[in-house]
Amino acid sequence: MKKYSLLLFVALFASIAVGQQTQLMLKTMKNIVLETKNLSLVLTIEENKDVNMVYLGKKLQDHIEYRQLANQYKQGHDYTNMYQSAYTASGTRNLLEPAISVEHADGNQSLDLKFVDQQLRTLDNNRKELIIQLKDELYAFHVELHYLTNYEENVIEQWAVIKHNEKKNVKLIKYASANLSLKGEDFYLRSFHGDWIAEMQREDEKLTHGIKTLDSKLGTRTNLFRSSYFALGLDGSINEHEGTVLIGGLDWSGNFRVDFEKDPQDNLRVVAGINNYAAHYSLAPGVDFFTPKFSFTVSTNGLGDGSRNLHDWARKRRLIDGYGERYTVLNNWESTYFNFDEQKISHLLDNTKKLGVDLFLLDDGWFGNKYPRNADTSALGDWSENKSKLPNGLISIVKEASDKDVKFGIWVEPEMVSPKSELYEKKPNWVVKQPKREEYYFRNQLVLDLSNPEVQDFVFHILDELFQKNPGLAYVKWDCNAVIYNAHSFYQKDQNNFYVDYTKGLYQVLDRFRQKYPTVPMMLCSGGGGRIDYGSLQYFTEYWPSDNTDPFDRIFMQYENSLFFPAIASVNHVTTFGKQELKFKIDVAMMGKMGFDLNLEELTSEELKFAQQAVKTYDQYKHIIWHGDLYRLSDPRKDNHASIAYVNKDKSEAIMFNYLVQYGQVSKTPTPVRWYGLDPQKQYKIQEINLHDANSWIASDLILSGDFLMKIGLNPVLNNNRKSVVLTLKAIN
Ligand code: DGJ
Repeated sequence: MKKYSLLLFVALFASIAVGQQTQLMLKTMKNIVLETKNLSLVLTIEENKDVNMVYLGKKLQDHIEYRQLANQYKQGHDYTNMYQSAYTASGTRNLLEPAISVEHADGNQSLDLKFVDQQLRTLDNNRKELIIQLKDELYAFHVELHYLTNYEENVIEQWAVIKHNEKKNVKLIKYASANLSLKGEDFYLRSFHGDWIAEMQREDEKLTHGIKTLDSKLGTRTNLFRSSYFALGLDGSINEHEGTVLIGGLDWSGNFRVDFEKDPQDNLRVVAGINNYAAHYSLAPGVDFFTPKFSFTVSTNGLGDGSRNLHDWARKRRLIDGYGERYTVLNNWESTYFNFDEQKISHLLDNTKKLGVDLFLLDDGWFGNKYPRNADTSALGDWSENKSKLPNGLISIVKEASDKDVKFGIWVEPEMVSPKSELYEKKPNWVVKQPKREEYYFRNQLVLDLSNPEVQDFVFHILDELFQKNPGLAYVKWDCNAVIYNAHSFYQKDQNNFYVDYTKGLYQVLDRFRQKYPTVPMMLCSGGGGRIDYGSLQYFTEYWPSDNTDPFDRIFMQYENSLFFPAIASVNHVTTFGKQELKFKIDVAMMGKMGFDLNLEELTSEELKFAQQAVKTYDQYKHIIWHGDLYRLSDPRKDNHASIAYVNKDKSEAIMFNYLVQYGQVSKTPTPVRWYGLDPQKQYKIQEINLHDANSWIASDLILSGDFLMKIGLNPVLNNNRKSVVLTLKAIN
């Protein structure tokens, strides 16, 4: 079977009536059709060598019919004949939001990109990459448009490579990764805003004419106020199980900007890329500028299918060891904060073993001597063990952990520097700050200038030395708590390059780390979920969604994150936050990568027993959660409960998490929750797990068919006394 096709259709001529006049539309010379299992994206090369994007949606059975697209989409008058440009250049005919704007070496600001050539590369049996070369006819200025299709997962990755051979540097005023032109009825945007401890707050809106922008100018921790990931309803609304939605975002950890422009013809243009704010990048002749990837999928069966596509793609192509194993963790942050010593750690290692999790994670506070890290006001940058807390060094506790059969992990925040640190005293020019202005701090700290290769080297060595000196080290939590204020680099000749080169510098370090330590599990944290994107996640195994570990709030955050990111990557800790009973906390943590951050001594003996049992139970089911397919069955923002299920790939086992989110005497689930993703022919034995000293209300011999569960559903019987219920399904035929 031919899996891919890149089809070229020759000579399609169309004419269109506009008002009183009849105007000859541009003559379409060729169609380029990119296909995945369910989708096609169609580009045209016009007779004047413009490249347009004319279709993105369900793929057609008969390739010949792509020729008819232009005739069916007879829209209004396009003064410029480039509203649908596949990469809108500015300064010539353009009237809309550009994808690229430049100032040439001679100061001229016009750009007109024409088709030159195309290649199709086969990367493996699932992926193809189309490269379209464009060039300005007056200037030695080139752009390559890259479209990488992931056939099975229906995910398209899109980016641009920009280069020139002009006499001097060219200023890139805007340089997007992707410029989509979408047709639809009404367009609805689902985006996510937030702040510290309030990440991933969903907002839905109808897009009207004009431009709506999602952006960040924070430099680091760029998702603090919003995510660059979004969902776009293309046929009137956004639903879980039906309708056409595009889901995706920019795989970039720096400033981003995504513009949604409903154009005069009622189409939607999406222009996504690095934010050009304070970043008119100065590009030297002969240098390739790679924009980050904009990765997206389109589902014609609602958000659910789209998420499953993205999860499969991310586990295969983005996350480190996406289909692998993960450690369960006991973390000490919320139980000790900065206040610990060797003895306390020794005790926590015992507790790790007692609880039955795999790894102990030592958090912030273990370093700094001249300025000890006893609060968040000092020592970032001085990465040697604090002698009074750890007189025998990290090596001794790493060894003790290994003797106790516990793995050991460590927290670092290597991009940062405290003004009260030896590093700051020695290397003031490594710090991002305005030379003549007063410093302004975010969490009492400043950011190191990662656009400087010397600083990159320093940051790499922080980690490398930790691993060299402590061979048993098994895990890292990489934190990033500050945004960039007073953006100024002592290294950069042109400050316009700072923001972009910072993020590229960060990736250089992470890349170097991964060359040497390809599989060490590493958690991406940014004062909570301040940096969750697939640019950084390609170096990490997991991410920390929020410092807010109240399980009630976490239900919503974890639910929203699941739109883009698979459960294996979501680090969910059971802590003392929230007044809910331990069972509720554990049930919420289990819907991702479960861990703990609490003093076992604060648990009653019954609770401890329950937690220990839960760790064992989790071991039995974690593979379904990590490697299976996610189904969001009830939305906590619409219903009085959330229901989330994971089904393994052969549909023989599943696990369902249910949480009541509206409390009150009469709050309950009166109707069944309808399942998706099961095998209708299979009979499933249903069992309630994580019961804390209670009898299940689900009959112990309950067996239901996949057919019943998907047509009628299953009532988890949530109510005031059963605020969370976890059910497992096991096929018996
Ligand atoms: C912010 C993180 O989100 C927390 O989990 C913790 O690691 C602190 N930083 C430590 O300073």
